[in-house]
Amino acid sequence: MSAASGFIHKFVPGTSRRTLLLLHGTGGTESDLLSLGRTLDPKAALLSPKGKVSENGMPRFFRRLAEGVFDEEDLIFRTHELADFIGASATQYGFDPKKVIAVGYSNGANIAASLLLLRPGVLHGAALLRAMVPLVPENLPSLDGAPVLLLSGDHDPIVPPDNARRLAALLKSAGADVTASVENAGHGLTEQSLETVKIWLGSITP
Ligand code: MLT
Repeated sequence: MSAASGFIHKFVPGTSRRTLLLLHGTGGTESDLLSLGRTLDPKAALLSPKGKVSENGMPRFFRRLAEGVFDEEDLIFRTHELADFIGASATQYGFDPKKVIAVGYSNGANIAASLLLLRPGVLHGAALLRAMVPLVPENLPSLDGAPVLLLSGDHDPIVPPDNARRLAALLKSAGADVTASVENAGHGLTEQSLETVKIWLGSITP
């Protein structure tokens, strides 16, 4: 069993040097975001793991105690586990570990934010769709201008607007290059969300 197989996942090779790390929301699978990823970037490789935690049969990337209340110990453990999986996958599939951009939705966006905060350097950048503050690290990492898109809904019943603003402030104070955008939307993604991600992806290197 190779190191990268620690997560059930799909890998789709690309024709550019970029890899999109696709992180699904609660109840999602490793297949859910593949066509979205291909639409967002027709050339990137796609790496799409399935969250290992089961909440009443629904896959997640880390445990929660209640809606919006996270099991921080599990979150920290799962964040490191995912970071190690990305490194092992780069070796197994031969992609550049310095050119990984996460595209995460909801629970997937929250673990992507946690990766930025706890394992700086693992992600080149991240599109965080309907994310909230996953945890506040004891020491702020140095994110060194890492591009981050934070896309929130102005009537999202799960992520209060103030929480998304706090996440933007946290990432900015760690040195990320944050583009925060609030849409006329709830927790679900809209056509506009996808267009915004596509434009943002086109605006950053690699
Ligand atoms: C979810 O439903 O997944 C929440 O909005 C986010 C989370 O629990 O991480």
